[in-house]
Amino acid sequence: MKPALLSLHQVDLNLGGVPALSAVTLRIEAGERVALVGANGSGKSSLLRVLHGLRAPTRGVFERTPCRQAMLFQRPHMLRATALQNVALGLWLDRTLALSWRTAQTRALQALSQVGLAGVQQQNAATLSGGQQQRLALARAWAREPELLFLDEPTASLDPPAKREVEALVQSMTLDAKPVTLVFASHNLGQVKRWATRVIYLEQGQVLADLPMVQFFDSECLRQHSPQALLFVQGETS
Ligand SMILES: Nc1ncnc2c1ncn2[C@@H]1O[C@H](COP(=O)(O)OP(=O)(O)OP(=O)(O)O)[C@@H](O)[C@H]1O
Ligand SMILES: [Mg+2]
Repeated sequence: MKPALLSLHQVDLNLGGVPALSAVTLRIEAGERVALVGANGSGKSSLLRVLHGLRAPTRGVFERTPCRQAMLFQRPHMLRATALQNVALGLWLDRTLALSWRTAQTRALQALSQVGLAGVQQQNAATLSGGQQQRLALARAWAREPELLFLDEPTASLDPPAKREVEALVQSMTLDAKPVTLVFASHNLGQVKRWATRVIYLEQGQVLADLPMVQFFDSECLRQHSPQALLFVQGETS
């Protein structure tokens, strides 16, 4: 068995008395592309936060192999600063990267160019459109040159053209370039099919199905593993 990049054993997470995750056990290896699916409030964002190291489990064991990682949040927070500063400051302030301000700006500009935002680098990030802000958030994550990337609903709030743009970007960043381990939450099952090699279905903080992508979308196979997951998929696609 390959060593796990991330592993959880019997992890619970309580948030303000709410059980956000219950007895979650899983391991993720380098190179996997894992989709987290489930209804609103099922625990997808909570699981991403634990995996990214932002929340310590209330109970259970979380282990990870150190690597460069980054996360795109469900509601990215923009600093009241230019688009360029939004990316460069994140890089510069992270002392583990040990970048000079000049290098941080150069790398930030490269990331902005990659997401098609070089032309608005001096614009206040708060005045960018929703699609542009999402691309900026992606640039901020990608500028860290992550080996492990967490994406929380990366296209949820976007209109169809912006959705296609951001999808294509993520595709080129994670699938076409050097392999990146990807863990993402999505309500878009088409996107899950396009990106994932494995799908984890959560319900009320519990993992009810954890299958290779092809098996997850095979109704008979999914029914055997988790009738609840099948109901969810059928509901989402009806
Ligand atoms: N900061 C918090 N304080 C208290 N409860 C929280 C907090 N964050 C999340 N929760 C609760 O934890 C549970 C899981 O929430 P989470 O945000 O992980 O779900 P989700 O699957 O990401 O949902 P969505 O699809 O709406 O993004 C929910 O019951 C939610 O209300
Ligand atoms: Mg969420």
